[in-house]
Amino acid sequence: MAHLPEDNLQYKDVDYWDERYKVEESYDWLGGLSKFWHLLENHIKKDDSILVLGCGNSSMSSDMYNAGYCSITNIDYSSVCISAMSTRNAHCPGMSWRQMDMRQLAFPDTSFDVVLEKATLDALMVEEKTPWEVSPQTASFIHEVLTEVSRCLKPGGLFVSVTFAQPFFRKRLYARSEYNWSIKQYSYGDGFEYFVYVMAKGNALSAEDAALEKKLLESSKSQPAQSIPTLNGEQEDFLSLMDL
Ligand SMILES: C[S@@+](CC[C@H](N)C(=O)[O-])C[C@H]1O[C@@H](n2cnc3c(N)ncnc32)[C@H](O)[C@@H]1O
Repeated sequence: MAHLPEDNLQYKDVDYWDERYKVEESYDWLGGLSKFWHLLENHIKKDDSILVLGCGNSSMSSDMYNAGYCSITNIDYSSVCISAMSTRNAHCPGMSWRQMDMRQLAFPDTSFDVVLEKATLDALMVEEKTPWEVSPQTASFIHEVLTEVSRCLKPGGLFVSVTFAQPFFRKRLYARSEYNWSIKQYSYGDGFEYFVYVMAKGNALSAEDAALEKKLLESSKSQPAQSIPTLNGEQEDFLSLMDL
């Protein structure tokens, strides 16, 4: 796999993704749509306006489009990715492709019924030494993204996050009353388990998630740091390297 980074930290670097997308045609992190769509199809309507964050060269958006979802906006901060994907999908009028940083979404408030991300927030976690307490830099980065997502969601809209991160580690980032959403979780996968979080805008956090938020606000406890191994061999799976 020629595009494997020498160091996990490169997954945070737009130059890495640009170089990768010059040579790689298609890759689906955490599996393709068919693996998890059964969990979402009852939540998402065919005419919903959908925003995909960090689309990469995944086939997820075109698979959704071919399944009848007719309004899909895709963003990625890699210009190489956006140029390739926009050319490849030029025959799909309901799909648009824009180079954009997910921390600064250039859309008005309440623009979308659904915001979807798959493995995109995971790519921000590669610097973490321990899942028990996300570093202040990463927490602040993710907070910027989630604030933007919440702003761009319509009332009743959904934020869907498909990730390798287990609830214990991921819910602490999503359970914040200022995002004004509730959280549901699902899982899929044989052998390795992946997770789908569905946040519904305008619903309050459950009592359990509100208690988690309160506890985290009050707590300053942290666990000892563990080092993250680097990638090697034929495997590309920073997902399993973080001891999550
Ligand atoms: C691990 S890949 C996931 C790609 C795709 N979502 C999938 O499921 O296969 C992460 C993607 O997020 C993009 N990305 C990383 N940081 C970003 C940011 N701040 N804004 C927009 N896109 C970003 C990268 O360019 C890359 O395409």
